[in-house]
Amino acid sequence: MIVITAPTSTIGRRLVDDLLDRGAPLRLVVRDASRLAPEVRERVEIVEGSHSETAVIDRACEGAAAVFWLAPGEPAAPTAEAAYLDFTRPACEAFARHGVERVVGISALGRGTPMAGQAGLVTASLAMDDLIAASGVAYRAVICPSFMHNLLHQVGAIKAQGMFSMMADPDLKSPTVATRDIAATAARLLLDDAWEGSGQVACLGPEDLSPNEMAQIISEVLGTGVSYRQTPGAALKERLTGFGTTDAMAQAMVDMFDAKNQGLDNAEPRTAESTTPTTFRQWCEEVLKPAVTA
Ligand SMILES: NC(=O)c1ccc[n+]([C@@H]2O[C@H](COP(=O)([O-])OP(=O)(O)OC[C@H]3O[C@@H](n4cnc5c(N)ncnc54)[C@H](OP(=O)(O)O)[C@@H]3O)[C@@H](O)[C@H]2O)c1
Repeated sequence: MIVITAPTSTIGRRLVDDLLDRGAPLRLVVRDASRLAPEVRERVEIVEGSHSETAVIDRACEGAAAVFWLAPGEPAAPTAEAAYLDFTRPACEAFARHGVERVVGISALGRGTPMAGQAGLVTASLAMDDLIAASGVAYRAVICPSFMHNLLHQVGAIKAQGMFSMMADPDLKSPTVATRDIAATAARLLLDDAWEGSGQVACLGPEDLSPNEMAQIISEVLGTGVSYRQTPGAALKERLTGFGTTDAMAQAMVDMFDAKNQGLDNAEPRTAESTTPTTFRQWCEEVLKPAVTA
């Protein structure tokens, strides 16, 4: 039995489909089961509730061989430590109590870099990996750069103003990754019972691109000029708190982008195993363009 947390997340939805296609028995932990597609609901076991709650995750882990772990990084959390570490503590106890064999978690690039300790959300995510590994379960952190998917939050600005904005340095080339490729990596690890101990598996899309180069590709795919505008950290923080993000979580987001601008995402070596297939251009054609033209 494989337990999937956050099955309604961008990665989780794709992962559930991938694993069901391969006939894996699944137990989904979900706050509201009506958010699952009916064809998924009828093929899986369901535990309703938040995977941060002891009683819920304890029930979910009973008799489970493997668990997919995703801490949502809730914007309303009081601190980044609460969002990643406190969120994960009950699960670590459940993994040990039920003798779960393997856990595959979603995390971030940056371990071992000089900025890793001051990288806000990423620092908390790396500490979460340490917490899970310390529980004694075999663990693989699937470590990711920024998701291509984040750009879907900017569809309105792309449509209305022909621009998108982030805190990233306009000319800094960095990897990005498609969530479908993260899900494929997680599925491979969850179905493989040959690995042990703790470690990390990187998912880097096939090329490093700067925001200005991304703007060029978006323009070519959409057939209309789209430019990139860098947002200062203070403006990003104001926007996030305006949407209800707590001050600490907004600051952790700003600290993360500061660290990325200093090279947090540029240290992981690109290897055959860490290079995922979906190019940014392909993602724009298959995901961004339909969203912009809808
Ligand atoms: N975005 C990036 O660039 C990036 C880069 C590296 C790593 N990451 C990591 O990737 C993860 C986010 O992945 P994603 O984008 O696939 O997630 P997502 O699409 O934002 O989905 C998060 C899911 O978590 C669930 N959720 C929210 N609050 C919850 C709570 N209190 N209890 C239980 N479930 C809750 C929500 O499900 P319901 O609302 O249906 O309950 C939602 O489907 C985070 O850990 C983040 O640190 C992100």
